[in-house]
Amino acid sequence: MSKNILVSVAWPYASGSRHLGHIGGAYLPADIFARYHRTIGNKVLMVSGSDVHGTPITVRADAEGVQPIDIVNKYHTEFLGYWEKIGISWDNYTTTMTDTHIEVVHDIFNNLLNKGLIDKQKSLQAYDASEDRFLPDRYVEGVCPHCEYKEARGDQCDNCSKTLDPEELINPISKLSGNKAEFKETEHFFLKLTALENELGKWLEQQEGWRPHVINWAKSFVKDGLQDRAITRDLDWGIKIPVDDLGPGKKIYVWFEAVIGYLSASKEWASLQGDSDSWKEWWENPEAESYYFIGKDNVPFHAVIWPSILLGYKGLNLPTNVPANQYILIKGEKASASRGVGKSLDDYLDEWNPDALRYALASVLPEQADSEISEQEMIRRNNEELVAAWGNLVQRVFAQINNNFDKLGEISDIEEIDSKLIFGFEEAYKKIGNLIEKVELKSALQESMRCVSQVNAYLNETEPWKIIKDDTKRAGRVLYTSLQAIDSCANLLYPFMPTTSENVRNAIPKTTECKWGVNEIKRGVELGQLELLFKKFD
Ligand code: MF3
Ligand code: ZN
Repeated sequence: MSKNILVSVAWPYASGSRHLGHIGGAYLPADIFARYHRTIGNKVLMVSGSDVHGTPITVRADAEGVQPIDIVNKYHTEFLGYWEKIGISWDNYTTTMTDTHIEVVHDIFNNLLNKGLIDKQKSLQAYDASEDRFLPDRYVEGVCPHCEYKEARGDQCDNCSKTLDPEELINPISKLSGNKAEFKETEHFFLKLTALENELGKWLEQQEGWRPHVINWAKSFVKDGLQDRAITRDLDWGIKIPVDDLGPGKKIYVWFEAVIGYLSASKEWASLQGDSDSWKEWWENPEAESYYFIGKDNVPFHAVIWPSILLGYKGLNLPTNVPANQYILIKGEKASASRGVGKSLDDYLDEWNPDALRYALASVLPEQADSEISEQEMIRRNNEELVAAWGNLVQRVFAQINNNFDKLGEISDIEEIDSKLIFGFEEAYKKIGNLIEKVELKSALQESMRCVSQVNAYLNETEPWKIIKDDTKRAGRVLYTSLQAIDSCANLLYPFMPTTSENVRNAIPKTTECKWGVNEIKRGVELGQLELLFKKFD
């Protein structure tokens, strides 16, 4: 039975280049997961887009002396280039400035407002008197009231991930002037998390199979007591508030609207397909599953705020799982091209085969804890695991068959050692499929590479090149079995390394064509042409 799987991926702020840490943190794992589910016949809808609003964009625009839209256009275009090069298979990658998005945001806002789940509240907001401007979110920094981290921003603490409001900061400083922030009364719309807290707590209790660091964080956040949160800001750049009770100069808060993007991007996709109701199969069908691929700093918004909005709105599916990743570290520091830690993504994309880069990153996915990556280690993996173990195996078996055999014409009967290898693959499909479904992608890749080693071990034991002269048929059987196994390795590796795996399996003629299972090979026909899969780095 085919399932509907929504693959939701964090919307990158269109305010700066991405780096390896972002790719390994969210886009690559989402893509691996999506490709697997499509392979086994599920209906996948994979959505995201550029997050174009909020102070990350305006701070950058101020710094460069340009308009926010210029920043957005520049980085949105840059991101599209990354997805193309690294093979992220979106069904819809859009932005938060489409008409559909604005309509959907307004619909949700009005719905919650009518239910009393959004109300107006007066509060003190950080203000810079010398600039005569309010200081929303990233315009103010100070000490985190929860963990005492010194560079907490007005929207969130990077150290403990807690969401913040500027007035909670200790010693708040204006990023505009460097002066101490003052506080001035202003009125905003608030999301009544206090009214949704009980229901949310119950829902969190029911979740199974979530990563411990995600579910524990979310539960303790709720247990500490949720507060109503302002969902509008004193800012010009953003989505219009659908009711105009607050006067000019205020917009919807980026985090309230960006998470709604998952829904609006699904609706936009449906319209683009010419079947404008089809999004419902992923959002209203209770059998559908939804997975949110994000970095750990986004956990509050996906495990608490977005589910609260959905609970308030009613009728739409809540997340099945939020497999947030921790951070990829380079020499102990959080990967960040802007802080000069690590090369830029463009450098890597120029120097590396995209599949090899995907492999190196997938090998260190920070699924349970922060993980280290170094270029040296990436190169080692490329040379030893991809070139020597996998690439050479394929090359070797193809060469043996092409040079010595009449297209595997006649082969001997299957022996125990052959059937053991094939049986091992049948088990591997189940095991690896299970791991991917649980979003344990790093282990799934390790298991797949173990299969590659098994084929190498099988060849070392059977040594077909030595028996070719004396027992051509037996050598033929061994190479036939190896080819079957290689085809299966390519299937198992496909979600991780789509291009090279596709090349391998396309070069192997088959009588069956099952993409998640062992195939029968067609004999008596030539193998397809296959270029060198991976290049060795010096
Ligand atoms: N733009 C945010 C970030 O980079 C992520 C937004 S995810 C969304 O951290 F769901 F809210 F869009
Ligand atoms: Zn903190």
